[in-house]
Amino acid sequence: MSVLEIIPWIVASAVLLSVVWIVLVSWRNGISPMPTSKSVRLAVAAEVNRTLGYGNIIEAGSGWGTLGLDVIRHCPGKRLTGIENSSLPLWFSQLLTVLITHLLPAAVSRESLRNRVYFKRGDIYKYSYGDADIVLSYLFPGAMKRLAEKFKQELPPGAVVISVCFALPGRQPIRTITCKDRLRTKVYVYAY
Ligand SMILES: C[S@@+](CC[C@H](N)C(=O)[O-])C[C@H]1O[C@@H](n2cnc3c(N)ncnc32)[C@H](O)[C@@H]1O
Repeated sequence: MSVLEIIPWIVASAVLLSVVWIVLVSWRNGISPMPTSKSVRLAVAAEVNRTLGYGNIIEAGSGWGTLGLDVIRHCPGKRLTGIENSSLPLWFSQLLTVLITHLLPAAVSRESLRNRVYFKRGDIYKYSYGDADIVLSYLFPGAMKRLAEKFKQELPPGAVVISVCFALPGRQPIRTITCKDRLRTKVYVYAY
């Protein structure tokens, strides 16, 4: 077998291993790194913009980084830290950030994004939300149940939680937005 014949096998194995890896981590987490749609991302950005001025955003489970990057593009003055424990989506989000902030033309306002968005490895159940002004999430009911208690104990007064699809148990949202996507996705907003 020649080197040229081996390359497709190596690529196919790498793709297969990546898929298996993502599936295994998703199984452990209880959720896959499914990204939000564009209309949901814009609805979340509009909610973030209701908090005026500077703000520290924590995205609990940042996946491929598309929500975080869109929010930071549409929300001047905000800084976002994405927390993710699935390696492949995390590396993709970090690569996308480098591409957008360093390589793409100024037309996508790379200067305004630089140093305002950061994706890092972490566990959303161990991370401290004590300095968050806004928390973003798109998780699942079990995760919201675990985070509800943590948010109650750690979030500073005035902080806002914006959750895509899933409500925080035992707490009344101050607003519920129905997005214009095909699934009419709901976004829940909570004030602390
Ligand atoms: C449905 S995705 C949402 C991704 C992103 N927020 C978005 O809206 O595009 C949920 C993400 O949470 C991550 N996640 C789940 N449990 C986690 C944990 N304990 N620590 C860190 N990330 C976690 C998953 O790996 C997944 O990428």
